[in-house]
Amino acid sequence: MGMESKFIWSDGKLVEYEIATVHMLTPAMHYGAAVFEGIRAYKTDKGPAVFRLREHAERLLESAEIMGFRNLPYTVDDVVNGAKETVRANGFDECYIRPLLYLSGGAWNLNIDAGKPALMIAVWQWANYLGEESLAKGIRANISSYTRHHPNVSMTKAKIAGNYVNSILAKTESVRLGFEEAIMLDPQGYVAECTGENLFLARKGKIFTPSTAPVLEGITRHSIYTIANDLGYEVVEAAISRDQLYNADEVFVCGTAAEVIGLCEIDFRKIGDGTSGKVTREIQNVYHDAIRGKVAKYEGWCEYVG
Ligand SMILES: Cc1ncc(COP(=O)(O)O)c(C=O)c1O
Repeated sequence: MGMESKFIWSDGKLVEYEIATVHMLTPAMHYGAAVFEGIRAYKTDKGPAVFRLREHAERLLESAEIMGFRNLPYTVDDVVNGAKETVRANGFDECYIRPLLYLSGGAWNLNIDAGKPALMIAVWQWANYLGEESLAKGIRANISSYTRHHPNVSMTKAKIAGNYVNSILAKTESVRLGFEEAIMLDPQGYVAECTGENLFLARKGKIFTPSTAPVLEGITRHSIYTIANDLGYEVVEAAISRDQLYNADEVFVCGTAAEVIGLCEIDFRKIGDGTSGKVTREIQNVYHDAIRGKVAKYEGWCEYVG
């Protein structure tokens, strides 16, 4: 499965995949001046449905606002309709959807007001980002030597392209060390998030997660919070230290690309029984049904494409 598709949506038009390219002097490429979203569409009995599309479209425009874009010619409805049109045009049952709002010209003086924004939406078939086998087995992670962004250095609520250099540094280090994901601590030393996922831990029947202050307000995090509450778990937002992870019964991470994945080992310490734990699997199962429109109370999260 590659990243190929038939069409990429570019400023309101569907452009053939092969010719949907940008110039080498696109400022977004030089300065990371772009904001993006990661969304998934799933196969349901009523055709493909995009999971929580409106919330993703809203976050894209919020990221743009945080980045300082002004008077953008795009609305949440434009993003919602553009994403649905792109999924339909490409004929995928299930796919990943990547809207990117980028500086396509100008702003070489580093002033965003001097730049020209453009919006593109691409889709491709992308299996679980951390590997299908990790759903049952869980993955191994380490605490990164890289600190997550300070909220006043890089804006942690925005999916700004340039912010992801921090994720690339951490993820590359972890994979080279033989792990599958990096857990990043915030500048105070508490657990923040992973390179592309939010984190939860379960201990003695309760579920804990870091507050949203230093991390991305994940849409999957919100779904998991809701599902866990509905399953009867108390979910507490708290500062979490590194050693609280070591002593947890279970630790799991969640995000659109990775979905819900247990951590079986952190820093060479087995977590729980060293597999994906019971709470993780219970939540994972409900999440997998919800994204495919199989749970009536969460069907409102599915935006049907047809
Ligand atoms: C740094 C970071 N944290 C958390 C998440 C999870 O966010 P979401 O559940 O909205 O995909 C992502 C994924 O986009 C991310 O990049």
